[in-house]
Amino acid sequence: MPTLFDPLTAGALSLANRVVMAPLTRNRSPNAIPPPRTALYYAQRATAGLLVTEATAITQQGQGYADVPGLYAPEQLEGWRRVTDAVHAEGGRIVVQLWHVGRISHTSLQPDGQAPVAPSAIAARSKTFIHDADGNGAFVDTSTPRALELDELPGIVEDYRRAARAAIDAGFDGVEVHAANGYLIDQFLRSGSNARTDAYGGSIENRARFLGDVMRAVVEEIGGDRTGIRISPVTPANDAYDPDPQPLFAHVAEVLAPLDLAFVHIIEGATGGERDYTQGDAPFDYAALKATYAQAGGRGAWIVNNDYDKSDAEAAIGSGHADAVAFGRPFIANPDLVRRLREDAPLNTLDQATLYGGGDAGYTDYPTLD
Ligand SMILES: Cc1cc2nc3c(=O)[nH]c(=O)nc-3n(C[C@H](O)[C@H](O)[C@H](O)COP(=O)(O)O)c2cc1C
Repeated sequence: MPTLFDPLTAGALSLANRVVMAPLTRNRSPNAIPPPRTALYYAQRATAGLLVTEATAITQQGQGYADVPGLYAPEQLEGWRRVTDAVHAEGGRIVVQLWHVGRISHTSLQPDGQAPVAPSAIAARSKTFIHDADGNGAFVDTSTPRALELDELPGIVEDYRRAARAAIDAGFDGVEVHAANGYLIDQFLRSGSNARTDAYGGSIENRARFLGDVMRAVVEEIGGDRTGIRISPVTPANDAYDPDPQPLFAHVAEVLAPLDLAFVHIIEGATGGERDYTQGDAPFDYAALKATYAQAGGRGAWIVNNDYDKSDAEAAIGSGHADAVAFGRPFIANPDLVRRLREDAPLNTLDQATLYGGGDAGYTDYPTLD
């Protein structure tokens, strides 16, 4: 059986090891443009087998928080080009996480101050982070969304396609479609946020239709071997709720299997919380999900995440539970996490106060072993 430090081929991506950097929003991109320090931040972490960037908005409509980056304006793409060049100069691999927040937004972030869009006009019991009238950061309730019209959906699918093309043009090795954590695609999947009565709501097949549309468009544009997806079958993040996630995500696995994806990235349990957290009546069976994907012909690398440490990660890979493990918070505080894991070196402590927003402090100044 392979170890955490063995190489892995995921579609067109050759990973030097199976330690993946999970996507981590840091709110340090004023005007949605990644600044030069972002290139340094990712380059410092380039020894990961794969870097997944922070969630990156495919359009302004897809924006839900202050100072998160985009992938839809030339200056944003120039900022990302600095990042991909810096990571590649260090021998790393990097994919960008494609993001549309749906209802997890605020009118002040939306084009012309409009309501955010969602499958249904159901407000999330959730907060977002904006700049108030005085320019100070503030946590506020998300705005009540308006339900998307059926004829608007192809336009959003095209936005994902265009963003995937832009990502490759900006030098990324591929993309990870963000279908997790209660954002737009997840809002379509789950009955708690999807009350539609058309072909995109109701049955499991209908609720997964938007995900399938997006994934097929992205794969058509850049190839399945450069495309991954992130899902979080049971997380309650951003008021995501479904009473019966097992059959829902089994169907999602069957939709994904024929697309020849590079990887499927699963958050187990509550994002940032308990890995055995569940929704529905029974514990979620991740092995069954993986088996469904494989039985349906899926060959993408299986990446797991959420509160893994070295011994959990080694056990997951050694037992065949996963092909790779993504680490989030440990990578913020430990740019040389791969080396520290390999050498059983102590980990730096995470500074919670500098997670979101700010400059170099808590971003590019965590020490390496050297
Ligand atoms: C500061 C911070 C920002 C995050 N941003 C994102 C994000 O942009 N996209 C995403 O899918 N998950 C995001 N997450 C969730 C992480 O990717 C990961 O799932 C979570 O931290 C659990 O993994 P860990 O225990 O290894 O940290 C974020 C988590 C944190 C702590």
